[in-house]
Amino acid sequence: MTDRQRAGMPPPFRLGADWWRRGVVYQVYPRSFADSDGDGVGDLTGLIDHLDHLGPDGLAVDAIWLSPVYPSPGRDGGYDISDHTAIDPLFGSEAQFDRLVEEAHRRGMRVVMDLVLNHTSDEHRWFVDSAASRSGAHADWYLWRDPAGVDRAGRPLPPNDWVSWFGGPAWTYEPRRGQFYHHTFLAAQPDLDWRQPAVEKAQLDVVRAWLARGVDGFRLDVFNVYLKHPDLPSNPTRRGSTAWDRQVHLYDLDQPDLPELLARFRAVVDAAPGRMTVGEMFVGTTEGAAALTTERHLVFDWELLTRPWSASAFASAIRRRERAFGPDRWPTVVLSNHDQPRQASRLAATVPGGEADRDAIAKASAVLSLTMRGTPFLYYGEEIGMGDVDVPPAESVDPAARHASADFHWWDRSQSRTPMPWTAAPGAGFTTGRPWLRFGPDTRVRNVASESADEDSVLACYRRLLRVRAVTPSLQDGAISLVRTGRPDVLAYRRRGSGPEVLTVIAFGRAGATVTLPSPGTGRTWRPVVGTHRDLPDPTPGRSFALRGYEGVVLEATPRRAR
Ligand code: GLC
Ligand code: MG
Repeated sequence: MTDRQRAGMPPPFRLGADWWRRGVVYQVYPRSFADSDGDGVGDLTGLIDHLDHLGPDGLAVDAIWLSPVYPSPGRDGGYDISDHTAIDPLFGSEAQFDRLVEEAHRRGMRVVMDLVLNHTSDEHRWFVDSAASRSGAHADWYLWRDPAGVDRAGRPLPPNDWVSWFGGPAWTYEPRRGQFYHHTFLAAQPDLDWRQPAVEKAQLDVVRAWLARGVDGFRLDVFNVYLKHPDLPSNPTRRGSTAWDRQVHLYDLDQPDLPELLARFRAVVDAAPGRMTVGEMFVGTTEGAAALTTERHLVFDWELLTRPWSASAFASAIRRRERAFGPDRWPTVVLSNHDQPRQASRLAATVPGGEADRDAIAKASAVLSLTMRGTPFLYYGEEIGMGDVDVPPAESVDPAARHASADFHWWDRSQSRTPMPWTAAPGAGFTTGRPWLRFGPDTRVRNVASESADEDSVLACYRRLLRVRAVTPSLQDGAISLVRTGRPDVLAYRRRGSGPEVLTVIAFGRAGATVTLPSPGTGRTWRPVVGTHRDLPDPTPGRSFALRGYEGVVLEATPRRAR
């Protein structure tokens, strides 16, 4: 409980218990957000000091999701946790975390924690105990199995054919037990055995502990891998270009009893209203994500991340998502995160010569993410149009990238995790020391201060869009339907919800396009309310609408007389 709550003062939240459907979530990668103590690594005090960038006078988002801030040896950027209920001193103290929750709430923002419950670090005390012998208190908390036999050289053979997502086998031998343990990711990230009642209880206690500290929700890391088939059989094989793809992942993820486990987890979270949970779908399809979505549990689907910068590609992504989710399941809108290339870089790379238009594409993609049906998740730095940074292999902070090979393709995630530039000063206002990871080459011109001073910046565009979204109910809760524009390079869709209907029109081409708008209904007219450009184009009486290159416009159906 925060001091505010103790004093009986409710936080000034703009939205009620359904905030996680209507609102916008902003993902902070804490190592790269803001460093307050000069060690070059972002920290909680740095984040608190920059909350106004996110709060009502800034972007005005509804929640912040923190990538892991727990004690960790840091082999997988904090996703290898050695204590799930504490704060890593690298980021600050327990008291500073409580202050963060308080300060975020005071600004009307909820706090969402990243829970990594599939695995722990190999330095977690549970695993240290488990690996030491077959008889300790945590002996069966992980997936231990006897070798399948020995090879000709007398070396133990793994229990089945499973492979690690991060390359290599999914099994590592532990001589002290004479057994292998399973790891979907690094050998330093052993998977827990969720089928052990003691493990489930310990995990739900972690959930309770964070709720008791006042957090408002969770992102569940790779939640569809928690359960494996109880017998751990080998996966069937198929053709494929990598070791992972050469298996049909029947037994190492997506087990049929996962929904029951999720319901038990959700019951703990539902002890109080208004809490969000979102599951990170691991290697699944849009249909798979939809199938695990429930009334109060969101699931990321990655459809939008797979699309090039083309109107028809986004139209077909919307169609597929709508078919999979239907009217009753609420999707998420994700164009970037800490595992993916940044959206402007990724999308611009699909357009010949598109790098030159990166800012324009950043703005147009902002219109997409804030007006499609679903809860938008914005990744830090996207709001200033940050791009992927060329990090030389020697400076890479992504362990999986180190053993990329022909049989293991990997995009180095360091490129989208670089420090946030706040100012043009040395250290970019991020740190007074040496940053843990290099800055982008454009930091002197691309930073929060300079974009704040420029009405035509990507940042100014995000602020305008977020303001309009916050007061436009149909953008928050409306159904979506695609509109035919007659032009292959223009995407248009309507949102019909609890307020006036909204129409979004985006020209994907550099040259712009003129389209005829659909009818807004009798007695109504389309009024442009916000867009990529500060000056909004007006539809002519015949509803002919001229868009400039990469221009996106949001229009609201308004009674004629109101004009
Ligand atoms: C999730 C995280 C990723 C991490 C992996 C293993 O996919 O998003 O960053 O490497 O889980 O924990
Ligand atoms: Mg620091």
